[in-house]
Amino acid sequence: MSSASSSPQSTTPTHRHHHFGTNMLERALSSRRGTLFADDDESSASAANADESKTKKNNNILFRATNRASNYISRLLGTTASASSSSSTSYWLCAAVFLLLVVFAASSLLFNSRGFVCISSYNPVSRAGFFGLDGLASDFGTLGVPWCRSKLGKTVEWTSKDLLRALEEFVPIYETRPIKNNMYGMGFDHSFGLWFMTRWLQPELMIESGAFKGHSTWVLRQAMPDRPIISLSPRHPEKYLKKGPAYVDGNCTYYAGKDFVDFGSVDWPKVMKKHGITDLSRVLIFFDDHQNELKRVEQALKAGFRHLVFEDNYDTGTGDHYSLRQICDQAYISGGGHSCFKDSDEARVRSRRKKFWEKAVDIEELCGPDEAWWGVRGYMRDNFNHSNKPISYEQHFQNSRYIESILDVYWELPPVAGPSLTHQTRYDPARVSSPIVEDGRYGLFQRLGLSKFDNSVFNGYTQMVYLQISK
Ligand SMILES: C[S@@+](CC[C@H](N)C(=O)[O-])C[C@H]1O[C@@H](n2cnc3c(N)ncnc32)[C@H](O)[C@@H]1O
Repeated sequence: MSSASSSPQSTTPTHRHHHFGTNMLERALSSRRGTLFADDDESSASAANADESKTKKNNNILFRATNRASNYISRLLGTTASASSSSSTSYWLCAAVFLLLVVFAASSLLFNSRGFVCISSYNPVSRAGFFGLDGLASDFGTLGVPWCRSKLGKTVEWTSKDLLRALEEFVPIYETRPIKNNMYGMGFDHSFGLWFMTRWLQPELMIESGAFKGHSTWVLRQAMPDRPIISLSPRHPEKYLKKGPAYVDGNCTYYAGKDFVDFGSVDWPKVMKKHGITDLSRVLIFFDDHQNELKRVEQALKAGFRHLVFEDNYDTGTGDHYSLRQICDQAYISGGGHSCFKDSDEARVRSRRKKFWEKAVDIEELCGPDEAWWGVRGYMRDNFNHSNKPISYEQHFQNSRYIESILDVYWELPPVAGPSLTHQTRYDPARVSSPIVEDGRYGLFQRLGLSKFDNSVFNGYTQMVYLQISK
């Protein structure tokens, strides 16, 4: 499936409930768009001009500094220029020494400053040495990014421009989050993704499975201030209030604590009737419960739901449950299917990348007994990996055919910004699509307000995915 940006028709959503509060958003953004999105096209020309004048200015500074250094060294040597020829020799000597010092200072800044080039704190070796200084952008998707094929090749309505605009609106909202440290829960990327998709889809009812302290409930509430939420979680978020910040929503029905019921065991027709829902395509389900996603898709389809978001869409060889990304990692998909051959190009690339990205897997980790690479080393994990069972390649293959047969749309949220901007060190960009704010666009990153967040909020990206399903 092509990414959102490849669907030009999608700029004007036509579906009744697929608007986005467009007018309001337009008004809010129009005054700021001029400056925010100005660092391409025309403004890159003015930026180039600015650069040119900067170079000229620097030349002047360099000339003056060289002159001063020359005079200073001459004075030190006691050769205060009386004869023009000796003065000229000493000038060129000093100029050469000074230039050498400048080159040395510049190169040490280039290779040692973490803020200047992306050097993963995961491994102190400079990535630049391996991947080249301009290699960051091209890292994205280098190993391939498998996607689930939808029945008719349909894609989402939103574009990368919509994402960029919404990002500007979401930053101040995220700043007001009640749970500042949401370790084990969603970080910035997925909070934005969930908020964005919920706002776009405008559901009448939101259901979440896996609430933890309630951060995702809060995100859903920011997207839809007046619509009801149903939250399923073994432990009630209010329990966390004793120890610190948590979020409990006033318009949410909790199936939690002693009232907990697993998503697959809820009497959905009864619950929908109670909430006055007659059209199940107006309901959005958000899963962050670390259950086998194949199982969840089957349960959702059986109940008649159509719009699903999965928070943790783990890549092959990683994670604690069987995910859509894993299911669709098949040899017939670009970037999909792997070989356990230790002398392959893929093995070499993987072992290099492992040095830089915590979540990258090399071929040894990827492959289990009998060269099983699918799922996690040939296992289908479930329930936070409390349950796992081996599956054959044939079963794995059949699972992807099943998903394709019921899939209308598959869309993975891109990371919000490239790793040289966020300094994230966990996910490997080689297995993800290009970020919304690409590497090198620090000006935009800063103008969006993203630079004020702690790096840790960008570390949790795991390919959040939106699915639209039907029989
Ligand atoms: C990763 S946390 C959720 C984080 C939360 N969505 C957030 O963004 O902050 C996973 C949650 O799933 C809950 N959980 C475990 N088994 C579950 C199940 N069968 N159904 C629903 N939730 C479950 C856990 O108790 C935990 O609160």
